[in-house]
Amino acid sequence: MILYQVKDYKELSRKAANIISAQVIMKPHAVLGLATGSTPIGAYEQLVEWYKKGDLDFSKVTSVNLDEYKGLSGDSDQSYRYFMNTNLFDHVNIDKSRTFVPDGLEEDSEAACAKYDAVIQSVGGIDLQLLGIGGNGHIGFNEPGEAFIPMTHCVALTKSTIEANARFFASMDEVPKYAYTMGIKNIMSANKVLLLASGEGKAQALYDSFYGPVIPEVPASVLQLHNDVVVVADDAALRVCKEKGAL
Ligand code: GLP
Repeated sequence: MILYQVKDYKELSRKAANIISAQVIMKPHAVLGLATGSTPIGAYEQLVEWYKKGDLDFSKVTSVNLDEYKGLSGDSDQSYRYFMNTNLFDHVNIDKSRTFVPDGLEEDSEAACAKYDAVIQSVGGIDLQLLGIGGNGHIGFNEPGEAFIPMTHCVALTKSTIEANARFFASMDEVPKYAYTMGIKNIMSANKVLLLASGEGKAQALYDSFYGPVIPEVPASVLQLHNDVVVVADDAALRVCKEKGAL
């Protein structure tokens, strides 16, 4: 694992954007695995800025997003499709027909998940998978559980994840209770993984994920078994790692 320790969110965003840019510059046909949540927003802003300056070209890039709420359409402003459009896709020259997000409106979970696995396979796998991390160690929407679930699946979101995501909705009741998410094998099959962690709320999860045992109760801990992981974390997110003498 390569760990970049940065001062704050601003530095984290710039470093993450640098790594994503490097991937796109080195391989214009790259398949980017993209993530939502508040953490990658700064990196997306930076990418848009560099695109506008003429330093980046997304015209040949394909993207596959990690997850989507079940029951939300791409037009709903809380959906992850909408998030991706407004935070990145609408502002760069990516071909939208080559941007993929699980279909939240497909009610048949099995069909939705099988379709998404087929999409990931058809694009030839993921070159760089961007990840945030939940306060409970979740990646995508792979929640803590009894086993690592390999492929795209439908999850019942945990209470803590629903509470954490409620800030994006008018009320807690409006937060969907289910989501479609790539599974652990989908994520682990990416050639490279870039995980971003910012803020005190991620400090324990970050320590448990990279310095604790590899267990499904801490989904991100599986990344210890991946041989090309880059972590960018700010001082606040690294507090527990430092206190425990891991760094
Ligand atoms: C959601 C997303 C995850 C994300 C997590 C953390 O649950 N499904 O992909 O990593 O939130 O979000 P944030 O970056 O806002 O802390």
